[in-house]
Amino acid sequence: MARPRKQTFLGILGQIVAETMRVQPEREAVWDVSENRPTMRIRSNRRIMLSPGGAYNGFPSISTAPLSIEIATTEAEFNQAIAVNSCIAVWCLLHSLAAAAHLALLGKFLMNRPSSDANSLNRRAFIAGTSGLMLGSLGAQGVWLPTATAEEEAGVQVFQAMGTRVGEVTDTTAIVWTRCTAVRTRLEGGVKFMGRPKPRMAGDPPEVTVPVEELEGVCPGAPGKVRLRYGRKQDLSDAQITDWVTVTEDGDFIQQFALSGLEPNATYYYESQATGAQASTTTSLIRGQFETAPSAKTPSDFRFCVMTCQGYHDRGHPDGHPIYPAMLALRPKFTCLTGDLVYYDSNAPRAVTARLARYHWERMFSLPRLLEFNRNMATYWLKDDHDTLSDDAWPGMKAGEFTYAEGQEIFRQQAPLADGPCYRTFRWGRDLQIWLTDSRDYRSPNRMPDGPEKTIWGDEQKAWFKRTVQESDATWKILVSPNPLVGPDRPNKNDNHANRGFTHEGDEIRRWLQTHVPNNFFVICGDRHWQYHSVHPETGVQEFSVGPASDEHAGGTPGEDKSIHRFHRVKGGFLSVTLKPNSAKSDIVFRLHDVNGDVVYEYERAAPVGG
Ligand SMILES: [Fe+2]
Repeated sequence: MARPRKQTFLGILGQIVAETMRVQPEREAVWDVSENRPTMRIRSNRRIMLSPGGAYNGFPSISTAPLSIEIATTEAEFNQAIAVNSCIAVWCLLHSLAAAAHLALLGKFLMNRPSSDANSLNRRAFIAGTSGLMLGSLGAQGVWLPTATAEEEAGVQVFQAMGTRVGEVTDTTAIVWTRCTAVRTRLEGGVKFMGRPKPRMAGDPPEVTVPVEELEGVCPGAPGKVRLRYGRKQDLSDAQITDWVTVTEDGDFIQQFALSGLEPNATYYYESQATGAQASTTTSLIRGQFETAPSAKTPSDFRFCVMTCQGYHDRGHPDGHPIYPAMLALRPKFTCLTGDLVYYDSNAPRAVTARLARYHWERMFSLPRLLEFNRNMATYWLKDDHDTLSDDAWPGMKAGEFTYAEGQEIFRQQAPLADGPCYRTFRWGRDLQIWLTDSRDYRSPNRMPDGPEKTIWGDEQKAWFKRTVQESDATWKILVSPNPLVGPDRPNKNDNHANRGFTHEGDEIRRWLQTHVPNNFFVICGDRHWQYHSVHPETGVQEFSVGPASDEHAGGTPGEDKSIHRFHRVKGGFLSVTLKPNSAKSDIVFRLHDVNGDVVYEYERAAPVGG
């Protein structure tokens, strides 16, 4: 075994001293909307990290990275925190000096002894002991972040830190989604970003200067194997079980189980199992449940919910948006997640690479409230501009290295979504059929002059929509759209059917609806950050805007217009729709809720079965 030279210890000592001296805390006062109070942001340009097993025969190696601490506090407490932070830096210096000196003295003593197997063992024991001492003491000061355990590194243990998702549920089929992760839970702590990304000029340093794996909320993927048990009994004693499926980096470690042969109108329970690529026993279990749709002959007697537009930094609660527990409390059969589920461009850090885009999903969908909701709810996922690329984006655009096409692909991975077009329709019993449209895959550039060639839906989607609506015998027909069709929207917007730039196609669709389904057709839209119930003045098309997922995310309305709005509210919340059979009729109630679930508006209709 090669003996380390004396200067190695001096080198380590010198490095620790030099790096510690370079620690320079900064302070900055910001308004943290998620906490709804002033937040003092303390950043240090340096964090010292020691990793066992470094370059020199197992001696600790030293690396550095920026450290970000954020403390919600008062001005006085902030000054106190700065003082404490300075003390930490001094304490870190003194402690590091002491620990390094200890390491050097003991190392010198051992290295000067004659070489033998016994001495090698002693040296290893010394290294382990002193490394442990240093890492433990520095870790206790909060300057060392633990790395993966040996078991995790060996690929034996994997987790499902992003939970499970259930999508595309019909009366007999469903998709269950999971992803193998290297960590049991999201990284709490780590480098945290706040608010909107700052504008950047060409040549500016990148916004993210640390590995993505060090960012707050990250859930790095890991190769592994997954399988699913599912059945009608809660204890899964009747469960069917899939084969183990290997997940790899190619698919971002994601598996989507396509289930078929399910019973209509039934509760299903499932258990998603994961294990490391080289392991033989399950190391992670997640249990959940969902309900299948009633068949087309069964009277529709249930509730469903629709939500949209969830910011991360302005989510209203550290564990996730309040709408999630509020929706669960209503026990809906399913929920439509209607686009802008992450904000690549306006929630820092900006997604300028595919890895950063995936980080946005990891950070958002590992929040406790979202985990709880998604494992227990049938959901339908729609994408919009911010969760494809950026505000009002169209095919062919880029953000840094991140392309629109990558955004489309990542959405398909993250959403429990079958192959095929992102526009689709689902029947939920005798009285309800929903249409989910796509506004991103087929659209013309926004800057194109309006006219018969300019489109959001594209010819195929439009033909599919008209054909399937006319074929439907459901009592109520509802279009759930990621963008408004009625509005009104702000005059400076130019991205949807309620905007001047897409008037031609907007008029075509609204007139078609007026002609073919004048009575029992409704639009529910995402995208807009205020709630409303509008009736189009010329065609009578009715539209409900469900509003953003938190109050903090609300705004942007052009103002109330009594000639169009039946209801208008600039706050967050969600929409529920309740269907109830009533002898030869079906009742339907649209309710707009605030973020806590309280009803702020209600609209009720009844119609003979079959419309
Ligand atoms: Fe939005």
